[in-house]
Parts: sequence; C-alpha cells; structure tokens
Amino acid sequence: MSMKLTFIGNGSMATALIKGLYQSYEIEVIGRNTKTLNTLQEAMPTISTKLLEDSFDITGRNIILCVKPYSLPSLAPKLIGTAKSLYSVLAGTSLESLQAYIPAKHTIRTMPNLGATYLKSMTTLVGDERLKEDALAIFDAIGTTLWLSSENELDIATGVAGSGPAFLALVAEGLADGAVQQGLKRADAQQLVAGLFDGFGSLIAHDTPAQIKDGVMSPAGTTAAGYAALERHSVRYAMMEAIGDAYSKALELKSKN
Ligand SMILES: NC(=O)c1ccc[n+]([C@@H]2O[C@H](COP(=O)([O-])OP(=O)(O)OC[C@H]3O[C@@H](n4cnc5c(N)ncnc54)[C@H](OP(=O)(O)O)[C@@H]3O)[C@@H](O)[C@H]2O)c1
Repeated sequence: MSMKLTFIGNGSMATALIKGLYQSYEIEVIGRNTKTLNTLQEAMPTISTKLLEDSFDITGRNIILCVKPYSLPSLAPKLIGTAKSLYSVLAGTSLESLQAYIPAKHTIRTMPNLGATYLKSMTTLVGDERLKEDALAIFDAIGTTLWLSSENELDIATGVAGSGPAFLALVAEGLADGAVQQGLKRADAQQLVAGLFDGFGSLIAHDTPAQIKDGVMSPAGTTAAGYAALERHSVRYAMMEAIGDAYSKALELKSKN
C-alpha cells in the first residue's frame, strides 16, 4: 500500500503538491474552508478531505504543513500527539521553531518555489537525514530537489530559487523592452522571451554558464557587443548583490520569528 500523506492547509502550494502526488500516494487534506476543500476533492476524487477541528490527532501521521508561517501559532494548539514525520513548506520558519510548535519524530524543512504551479519547482530541503529519501521522493513530484546540509545553506538558496523567479522576471522584462524599443511588437517580444527561457532551462541543466556564453559569443560579434553592455552596467554584480541582500533579509526576518 502507498504511503499516506496528511496535508494541513489547502492553498496554492498544497494544491500543486497534491496534483503531483495524488496518483502515487494516499492523500488526506485538512483545511478550514469547506468550499475550497470540496473543489479540491472534485478535481481529484481519490483524495479525502476534512475540516480542521480542535484536537486533531497527528500521531503516526506523515504531515505536510502548507499554511502561512504566521498561522503556525494559532494552528499548533489545535493539533495533539506526535507526528511520524513533519514536512514543512513554510518560508523562514526554522526547524527549531517547527519542532517547538508541532511535535514529530522527524522534521524536514523545505523551500519550494513558484515553479510548483507547473510542477517545475526548484525545491531545497534540509532536516532529519533519516527522512531524506522519503522527502526527496515526495518533493520530486513537483519538480527538481536539492538536499542541503544546513539551514544556513537553505537561507542562501532561498534568495536564488525562492526569489529567483522575480529576479529573472526583471531580466525577461528588460530583454522584451529592448526588443520593443527596437521595433518588435510587444506580444512577439513576450513570446520570444518565453521561448528563450524555455530553451535556456535545458541548456543550463547540461552546461555551465561559462560554456553557454563561450558557445554563443563569436569574435567581434553581436553577442560580444551586447555582453559588453551588460558588463558595463555591472549586471553580474547587481545579481550577486541581489542574492546577498535577499540572504540578509532572510536572516533579519528569521531573527524576528
Ligand atoms: N506559493 C509559493 O510559491 C510558495 C513558495 C515557497 C513557500 N511557500 C510557503 O507555502 C506556504 C503556503 O503558501 P501558499 O502560497 O500555499 O498560501 P495560501 O494559498 O494562502 O494557502 C494557505 C493555506 O493554509 C490555510 N490556513 C491558514 N491558516 C490556517 C489555520 N490556522 N488552520 C488551518 N488552515 C490554515 C489556508 O486556509 P484558507 O484558505 O481558509 O485561508 C490555506 O488553505 C507558506 O508558508 C509559504 O511560505 C509558498
């Protein structure tokens, strides 16, 4: 029989995970809104859904926690017992804090990203090594996974993969704006950039950035001319500072939790 997973929370992240997992796992979803729970159940009839009531017993369950970080203090008193395992997707919520709120034999902290919407999340994970294999199998269902060895590494990675879609959106918008400025229609520019990112996804999965750049940059060519403009405006350093500032912010927010 397949492993049973209990989702607490049924918002965007839970829905993406359930879509990726419901054919291979037995899924139970606990939420607080009958209407959205019913919609989920209708879309995936093999799952079961329940309204969260006081004293929900998590003993022996494999919990996937998908509420907002600020909901943790109000949610925790409604749960009783000790879970078999706890997988949290809560941004900026440390293993220590999770363990204090929700008792579990094994605790894992994960950081999926917006790509989960299309089952293409870049998810980083950290926590109890004994659960590593199960955790990777679960989160592989929504994309790519990377196990890290410390929460500090996860906080750094969050600046890249968590905030990354916003940083790359700026790059995409800049490229499209440049094309429009030179006379391309906006819709064509958008399609061009979308296709570029799609192909780039495959390229970067196989080659390093330097290999890709060297492969396309010919002597005194068009790429070299454009590339020099990017370096003149310190785009590389701006990206490095963006990761540094995102990491500093993550630490600042964590110290307030
Ligand atoms: N979305 C992303 O791309 C992303 C990426 C990385 C990490 N995350 C993390 O994923 C978590 C969920 O985010 P989301 O985008 O899925 O948010 P969301 O769509 O707002 O979903 C939150 C869910 O939690 C439920 N909930 C909130 N408080 C609750 C409580 N006290 N008891 C029971 N259920 C409660 C909500 O119920 P209602 O519908 O009734 O409000 C909703 O079903 C967050 O911690 C976030 O940090 C999200």
